[in-house]
Amino acid sequence: MNIRRKFQARFGYAPARVVWAPGRVNLIGEHTDYNEGFVLPAAIDRGLYLAVAPRRDRNVSVHALNFHDATAFSLDHLQRDSTHRWSNYLQGVALILQERGYALRGMDAVLWGDLPIGASLSSSAALQVAAAVAFKTLRDLALPLEQIPALCQRAENDFVGVQCGIMDQFAVTFGQREHALFLDCRTLAHQHVPIPSDLKIVVCDTRKPRALAASAYNQRRQECEQGARFFGVAALRDVSVEMFHARETELSETIRRRVRHVVTENQRVREMVAALERGDLKTVGALMAASHQSLRDDYQVSVRELDVMVELAQAHAGCVGARMTGAGFGGAALALVHQDAAETFANQISAAYQAATGVEPQLLVTRAQDGVRLLADNENA
Ligand code: GLA
Repeated sequence: MNIRRKFQARFGYAPARVVWAPGRVNLIGEHTDYNEGFVLPAAIDRGLYLAVAPRRDRNVSVHALNFHDATAFSLDHLQRDSTHRWSNYLQGVALILQERGYALRGMDAVLWGDLPIGASLSSSAALQVAAAVAFKTLRDLALPLEQIPALCQRAENDFVGVQCGIMDQFAVTFGQREHALFLDCRTLAHQHVPIPSDLKIVVCDTRKPRALAASAYNQRRQECEQGARFFGVAALRDVSVEMFHARETELSETIRRRVRHVVTENQRVREMVAALERGDLKTVGALMAASHQSLRDDYQVSVRELDVMVELAQAHAGCVGARMTGAGFGGAALALVHQDAAETFANQISAAYQAATGVEPQLLVTRAQDGVRLLADNENA
């Protein structure tokens, strides 16, 4: 895809900059971010490209190639758009930046991505972060990269209406090639953890569209807050496995399950970091399996298609570990697979999943990549 040429064809002049923002997978630590806990995502080598140039007026005109759709909005009248829903991610970011006192310029933009959309790979966070970096670059704003994840998260919470945590925006911004990002979502302290070099990340998109994801997601968040109130703590991050066991019988069935997931998942993230550091792939696989099981049985955010995909992946000889990734309710699983076996794995699991479900999945062999960046002038999508 020559995004510069597409921009030229659309607007009749060349773009000033092209921003690239990756998607992400999460190796482990699911539904822990909004509980102020631990996560271990990785940015991947699939993402979104946003080619941009400044305008003289206060309009933003965007052409989204993947959607064969275009829209325009004014920076002075930002409002939710139910027809061009993808534009809400750009609008929400523009709104929060202006609320924080940043003076923005209008822009022309062309958007294109090679990241499956709506598949739990954070295409929305990638678009938000790309938009923030584009606005920053066009006006040379004094907006430190460190502030971008929280601003984008706020845009999603307030403008889009999903009460998401900070993991996705953080991974998109600060991912690092060949590394996972161990993030403490309370303090935002983070550390890059090397992914063993002979492993590939295989994204296994079930092609099952996420259903009722936003409302079910917000409901899980409320249940966690209820759990935290019961234990008298600021967030479930503060509940240890021992504290949970001491009082679990006092909780209702639903809240008990939710809390058990979060408390044990936080523990698994820390164990995963240690296992990766010592190259203990057996433990890595066991932790991923336990995480999936907990999301399926206790947090209840998996669906049959994800379970089928994960079971098929886990049974493959080349696979180190597999689990659903992201919010759940559909979307993608991820598998860590030995490099030499990755292509065969993708072909075989793809065929087996299709045989089991009647749906053709999309399996992508990827690797961990750096976070958001501006392309060099001679670089293309
Ligand atoms: C979505 C949210 C994240 C996180 C995950 C679940 O991706 O955007 O903040 O909560 O779900 O781990």
